[in-house]
Amino acid sequence: MPTKIEKDAISGRETTGHEWDGLQELDTPAPKWWLYTFIACIIFAVVYMALFPAIPYGRDYTRGLLNMSSRVAVDDDVKALEAQRAVFMDKIKTTPIEQVKDDPQLLAVATAAGRIAFANNCQPCHGAGGAGRTGYPSLADDTWLWGGTLADIQQTITHGIRSGDDKARGSAMPGFGINSLLNAAQIDAVADYVWGAFYGHAVAGQDLSKGQAVFAENCAVCHGANGEGGRTVGAPPLKSAIHLYGDARETIVAQVTNPRLGVMPAWEKKTNTTGLDEATIKSVAIYVHALGGGE
Ligand code: HEC
Ligand code: HEC
Repeated sequence: MPTKIEKDAISGRETTGHEWDGLQELDTPAPKWWLYTFIACIIFAVVYMALFPAIPYGRDYTRGLLNMSSRVAVDDDVKALEAQRAVFMDKIKTTPIEQVKDDPQLLAVATAAGRIAFANNCQPCHGAGGAGRTGYPSLADDTWLWGGTLADIQQTITHGIRSGDDKARGSAMPGFGINSLLNAAQIDAVADYVWGAFYGHAVAGQDLSKGQAVFAENCAVCHGANGEGGRTVGAPPLKSAIHLYGDARETIVAQVTNPRLGVMPAWEKKTNTTGLDEATIKSVAIYVHALGGGE
């Protein structure tokens, strides 16, 4: 308890009466600006608590007079967006793929949906942006095994290649070596010819005519007389800088001996848990077509 109220001689303020070894405690009030700010904060808090969700009780909380909830607002936004997207995806499903491409609004939705579906389903094999890697063709260049129109791509994705699907694309390059259709010397000769004449490597001191004859007799039917490839059977162009299985001579020998026969899964939705729905397949086809090589 203060015993006596005195005024400090230097500041003129009242003291609290506390004193320690000659040091006196002054009774200086809080500054006015501080006090007003403090009161304003209290008023703000009370108004805020009345208007907005604020005080938790049990499993609930006070809703506030404005009845505002950012969670509900986000839910509503997401629902509205999904509904909008569903309308577009339904439209994509029922519109022929060429017309989807020509409708700017549908094209934008399809491209966005296609990009996501590609990243989730195709990227593991075909690489980011469809860049491809050995055994998995690039989808971004203009070399196509089976065709690069929207309809071709949609067909490939829907039914796959050697996938076991009834309508899958399929063909089998014969195993010339393992089935003894060609002997080792003939395989060597045709590999020299393909590597030299089509892949563009110098084959030193070799006469390619023997290999050329083997090629004309055994390979041209699928790969074309000039190695231009054959799309009806998915035979890659050999006269090209792009090679599905790489540029080395050994890969040609290996392929002729025992072909790899790449498999691409079918994506048509057959059950609720597998595959992609029709609108998504169209969207992916449109995305792939736009990667750079679309025809
Ligand atoms: C398990 C690996 C794998 C997955 C996953 C995969 N692909 Fe393929 N895809 C392949 C292989 C292998 C080939 C080449 C087959 C061949 O030798 O003809 C191919 C070929 C293709 C072709 C034909 C290319 C051409 O030149 O004609 C297209 C188009 C294609 N894939 C698109 C897709 C899309 C789109 C997806 C995702 C929905 C996808 N692929 C998923 C392995 C895969
Ligand atoms: C029935 C058609 C057919 C015949 C005949 C055929 N091929 Fe093929 N060839 C294909 C197909 C389809 C592929 C790609 C499929 C796969 O193996 O993944 C291919 C792939 C290749 C490749 C790999 C190309 C690359 O881009 O990496 C080489 C090389 C090749 N064939 C060479 C030959 C030679 C040489 C002969 C003749 C001795 C021959 N093929 C006969 C269909 C054929």
